[in-house]
Amino acid sequence: MKSTYYITTPIYYVNDVPHIGHAYTTLACDVIARFKRLDEYEVFFLTGTDEHGQKVETAAKNNGVNPKEFVDKVSKNFKNLLNCMNFSNDAFIRTTEEKHIKSCQKIWEKLLHNGNIYLDKYSGWYAVRDEAFFSESEIVDGKAPSGAPVEWVEEPSYFFNLSKWEQKLLAFYENNKDFISPKSRRNEVISFVKSGLKDLSISRTSFSWGVKVPNDKNHIMYVWLDALTNYLSACDYSNEIDDEVFKKFWPADIHMVGKDIIRFHAVYWPAFLMAANLPLPKKVFAHGWWTNEGNKISKSLGNVIDPFQLVDEYGIDQIRYFLLREVPFGNDGDFSNSQLINRINSDLANSYGNLFQRVVSMIYKNCNETIPLKPKKFIQKDLTLINSIKNNLNNYRNLIDEQKFDQYLKNIWIVISNANKYIDEQAPWALKKNDFERMEVVLFTLVETIRQISILLQPFIPNTSEKILDHIKIPNVQRNLKSVDFILNGNIKISPPNPLFPRI
Ligand code: MSP
Repeated sequence: MKSTYYITTPIYYVNDVPHIGHAYTTLACDVIARFKRLDEYEVFFLTGTDEHGQKVETAAKNNGVNPKEFVDKVSKNFKNLLNCMNFSNDAFIRTTEEKHIKSCQKIWEKLLHNGNIYLDKYSGWYAVRDEAFFSESEIVDGKAPSGAPVEWVEEPSYFFNLSKWEQKLLAFYENNKDFISPKSRRNEVISFVKSGLKDLSISRTSFSWGVKVPNDKNHIMYVWLDALTNYLSACDYSNEIDDEVFKKFWPADIHMVGKDIIRFHAVYWPAFLMAANLPLPKKVFAHGWWTNEGNKISKSLGNVIDPFQLVDEYGIDQIRYFLLREVPFGNDGDFSNSQLINRINSDLANSYGNLFQRVVSMIYKNCNETIPLKPKKFIQKDLTLINSIKNNLNNYRNLIDEQKFDQYLKNIWIVISNANKYIDEQAPWALKKNDFERMEVVLFTLVETIRQISILLQPFIPNTSEKILDHIKIPNVQRNLKSVDFILNGNIKISPPNPLFPRI
């Protein structure tokens, strides 16, 4: 039986149009999901939209429509982003779906039954933009720590006894060192928990756009309890008759999130799950934030980066490559057009594109339009190049498991650069005149290297990798990670190459 791998993105608030931040989180998940599929895991890659809460209700009002009409319309923008960026999610959950509502009510009842929920009254600050409660001591200059405006709230509320889980959470972090990544975030979360946890308000009564609390129609569930539960709903938690899918995929292998929402995923979520006697996810990874040419991205500054426009202008694979190559994943990064163009021209067009172009056109022109047969004899230089990827497969696996995308790409680009150097040194154009057989060995070595590189690049630049693998006629069943270890047989008829990445 195949091993399973369950990976999730945050579910996106639909009050906003999709921007680069949304594209970034989902892209990281897409790369991991595609890699795991190549490595023969049965993958469940989930994304979706967060459609309840005060923020969405207000946005609907501002648009003059009822919330349901509003969310039906705007959640489509997020579905469109999936196509636009070539994301390969297996499911898309909306929190307004019946199965999600049922699973929220199910977890609520579990928490209540286990004695972790009590009714009281909330009075304190609430930031609608963050959909979060803040105590007096957290308020900075009259605002939430994120800078979001806050309002005073006083209403009856159900509470979750979060304070009771403090020691258990700390013990869990201690015994599961990789649960929170990167390390800096782990330390941040641990010190937050050590500073003392207060019980958490988990229902609201002053508006109605949310999941109803079972047996108390005056309350709706706090939007974060609702939202986090999506990870259970999507794998059928609410299905009482058949829990096969749930057992198969839960607990999730990784929740990918931005650094702003780590607390919800690494503190509240595991506490809810412990309290409901459910297994905990294996990892929460918090990535950094993009700025735009040095400035914080915000609607009011009018500098929001639109992924649809970027892809239209530069191409899907170009954007996918840039976002994961430019900044070590986990760090903040600055988006700059000139850097994007540099990367496209130098890494994609000049290094990789050119390698493919040179090798395939030499074969086309000089070898009777056919990739030469696998040679009987290689010299050491050929083998060094051919083995540079296949001898390091486990290293690439580890880099994906540690979310070190930039390092993965850097390693591959070292091989690309070595392959370009090898062409210059071996000078097949000269061999053509005095050692035709050796020229064939050199060209074979290069196509074989391109084959391996393209297999490993599929998760990052799927369209281009497919073009290359199609061009050198690699059957679909030989594009998984295991196939890196084979070697081409050769004797494959090819057509002349087209440029892969137009220079900008
Ligand atoms: N709805 C909640 C998540 C609920 S998950 C159970 C939410 N939604 S969001 O739409 O506001 O944000 C989604 C993601 O976009 C977050 O992971 C956030 O970090 C990311 N980004 C938003 N702006 C960003 C940048 N400027 N740069 C990188 N990512 C950023 O939070």
